[in-house]
Amino acid sequence: MIVTIDGPAGAGKSSISRRLADELGFEFLDTGAMYRAVALKGLRAEIDWDDTDRLAEFAKSASIDLSGSAVILDGEDVSHEIRTQQVTEVTRYAANNVGVREELVRMQREIADGKDIVTEGRDQGTLVFPNAECKIFLTASPEERARRRVEDLANRGEKVDFELILQQQTKRDEEDTQREVGPLLKAEDAIEVMTDGMTEVEVLEKLVGIVQRFQHA
Ligand code: DC
Repeated sequence: MIVTIDGPAGAGKSSISRRLADELGFEFLDTGAMYRAVALKGLRAEIDWDDTDRLAEFAKSASIDLSGSAVILDGEDVSHEIRTQQVTEVTRYAANNVGVREELVRMQREIADGKDIVTEGRDQGTLVFPNAECKIFLTASPEERARRRVEDLANRGEKVDFELILQQQTKRDEEDTQREVGPLLKAEDAIEVMTDGMTEVEVLEKLVGIVQRFQHA
């Protein structure tokens, strides 16, 4: 069974999706981490970001292993590095690149093939797994999402300004929804869950309930 979770940045998708997968005994796929890993590879090679073909080649040649709890890029644990502001800022070059998307979508389908899996991103229910059995669109208001992001980064030792994060988030929302390939979009058959004012445990319980309805259908 495939459960897709899409939604905007900062809606708490990653941690909730991981916990949901644990709870269900499913595997988990963080597709944003794949775009981040390709961007990091480009950053390290000091790539010219206008060279879209070279970045697409990087996506093809990169070894990205998400099977454990860490993100392994070409044999190295980059779990923390891919979440820094610097990598977040350049990840759009990977996300907007048609060749990169083609390659990562192919990998995502290969990873999910025949598995019980929770897969999380922007285009999972629409483009990557249009036939997924259960689709969830997880969202929250811009202010709530920015507040959570600030808290998240603080927990990782990065001190950031709320207004700046909100500004960056608005820009990413625009980029995410207006992307020509794989834009952020709620699938017609997705269930929208608005998480403002809910604790992580409450959101988790709600999602478990939704998935169980589909499991028993
Ligand atoms: O979910 P995240 O913040 O880790 O995602 C990083 C970036 O990758 C974000 O700008 C959107 C993009 N992305 C995407 O275009 N398609 C996906 N399936 C997942 C993420």
